[in-house]
Amino acid sequence: MAQDVFDDVKDMMDSIKMETVSDADALEAFRIKYLGTKNIIKPLFGQIRNVPNEKKKEFGQLLNELKGVAEGKYTELKNDLGGSNKKKNFDDLDLTAPPKSLRVGSRHPVSLVMNRMIEIFGRIGFEVAEDREIEDDWHNFTAMNTPEDHPARDMQDTFYLLNSTSQLLRTHTSSVQARTMTKMQPPIRIIAPGRVYRNETISARSHCQFHQVEGLYVDENVSFADMKQTLLYFAKELYGSKTEIRLRPSYFPFTEPSAEMDVFMGTADEKSKRLTKGTGWLEVLGCGMIDPAVLDNCGIDSNKYSGYAFGIGIERSAMQKYDISDIRLLFENDVRFLEQFKSAI
Ligand code: DAH
Repeated sequence: MAQDVFDDVKDMMDSIKMETVSDADALEAFRIKYLGTKNIIKPLFGQIRNVPNEKKKEFGQLLNELKGVAEGKYTELKNDLGGSNKKKNFDDLDLTAPPKSLRVGSRHPVSLVMNRMIEIFGRIGFEVAEDREIEDDWHNFTAMNTPEDHPARDMQDTFYLLNSTSQLLRTHTSSVQARTMTKMQPPIRIIAPGRVYRNETISARSHCQFHQVEGLYVDENVSFADMKQTLLYFAKELYGSKTEIRLRPSYFPFTEPSAEMDVFMGTADEKSKRLTKGTGWLEVLGCGMIDPAVLDNCGIDSNKYSGYAFGIGIERSAMQKYDISDIRLLFENDVRFLEQFKSAI
């Protein structure tokens, strides 16, 4: 007798699992049969008293399982029916309704500024040259007039590849100057946008990875005045037609003379005051006339040719343009941050 009721319950469980319904009425019939107030599972609970004491617990568990199976099956059938109903029922399909808008991504603020710079220089004949981020010592330093014992190597804390003293993550896009000049002869007019790395403590103002746009022009009779005029054009395009620039003497191993370019922001508003540390001038890039030693290192005749080069930090421009106060936001890939630049495309 006891074994019979166990088998009854198991049989019912199997048949519930096999159930199918083709419409809402059949679904409702299923619900009434197994889950309604007069469902056929309920009376089975009454059978507990016919089951020997030592089996009561097991039987109770089996009945609960049966109830669970019926509930689960009902949900499954309901979902299936809902899905196929939607497909079949075209009555409530409004063909004139506007389509759901597509979720488009947005450009990263660094890309926005980088692309703008590429476009500005592209208009005056600078072509994009890209090269590797894992660089060798020669292209990053030696060719750029920074031999091994040169103190200027300390200016840039370098990430070397594990167990290597010659393979490194490029510390500046100036390495692309060497890559380009060893491959082609003047006239050369390129810009090299890309990511660079330095072993620096990460803070709101500095990061161990950032982006630069390098510029390089080599030809006969290239002068400092040519460079200045090109950079003035660039500044006016990026910051507005009334922008003023100034060049301050500086030092880079690969240029002689070297300079840094500032643009005038004034101190009228709080933002300009903060960005320029109260001076009104914002430092934008490093530049200079290519040191003849660099040209010779790269196989270009420094008696015949001269040139200028410059390197622009992109993050700083992006932060200034979009009023971003912490550089780390640019590398965290937080969609809530990135989405804000949708309209900036
Ligand atoms: N490579 C320099 C840096 O990362 C920037 C730079 C300065 C690039 C002067 C140049 C240049 O091409 O002429 O700090």
